[in-house]
Amino acid sequence: MTAFVTGASTGFGAAITRRLAADGARVVASARRADLLAKTAADHPGTVHPLELDVRDRAAVERAVATLPAEFAEIDLLVNNAGLARGLERAQDADLDDWDQMLDTNCRGLLYCTRAILPGMVARGRGHVVNVGSVAGTYPYPGGNVYGASKAFVHQFSQNLRSDLHGTGVRVTCVEPGMCGDTEFSTVRFGGDRERARAVYSGMRPLGPADIAETVSWAASLPAHVNINVIELMPVAQSFAPFQVHRTP
Ligand SMILES: NC(=O)c1ccc[n+]([C@@H]2O[C@H](COP(=O)([O-])OP(=O)(O)OC[C@H]3O[C@@H](n4cnc5c(N)ncnc54)[C@H](OP(=O)(O)O)[C@@H]3O)[C@@H](O)[C@H]2O)c1
Repeated sequence: MTAFVTGASTGFGAAITRRLAADGARVVASARRADLLAKTAADHPGTVHPLELDVRDRAAVERAVATLPAEFAEIDLLVNNAGLARGLERAQDADLDDWDQMLDTNCRGLLYCTRAILPGMVARGRGHVVNVGSVAGTYPYPGGNVYGASKAFVHQFSQNLRSDLHGTGVRVTCVEPGMCGDTEFSTVRFGGDRERARAVYSGMRPLGPADIAETVSWAASLPAHVNINVIELMPVAQSFAPFQVHRTP
């Protein structure tokens, strides 16, 4: 099995890469930071192929997929994991550049990778696209505005892909996690403020990247006639609260 993982330099993507390699797959590990990818590749010589790639660059995505080494060229599993949240400001105060970056990465980047890799899967009559969504795509929260909307896009695009791929043998799964620690997610969201990022997970046990890797590995390992449409998972310490109500004095 050959997998192509985006956002493989840290967090979920790095854990998914290592897990799939341990499962016996060859893995194309892609992200912007080549130095981090090189370390993972060095631990898995011949099995993990590092690929420096910005998923927002449509031409670069097409070129990268078209020029993979022969032993990594026939992709069975695409894990669209690259993504980010930027900022937690209310919509009325948010930075438009942050919104652009989220849309360009979480939505457009995912589309470019999917569109470049799908034709080969369809031609071979097999394949699996695993998209990393988020509970933020289903449950609103203050400041989640465009991040949550981008993950709702990932959810619905995944469902629509299933319709388009009807009869092709290609599977589609959307994995939608809640709070997960030991990644750069909150540090990136808060512009590098590690203290603020650490506070998000203080006093609770979040999911870890290994939990997400386990989920992806499981969905991918099921028999070819089984399609897991959506997996929503959360730490036990995270749950739901009532609607907020604004009352006038
Ligand atoms: N952590 C959570 O609580 C949580 C919960 C639900 C969903 N998610 C989702 O899970 C995915 C992974 O997040 P994470 O928690 O593992 O965060 P992370 O540690 O920040 O990892 C994000 C990855 O995306 C890559 N990336 C960002 N922009 C990119 C671009 N333009 N082109 C290529 N790669 C890019 C980063 O690599 P480079 O910087 O090297 O490019 C990095 O490898 C994201 O889609 C996120 O929205 C996270």
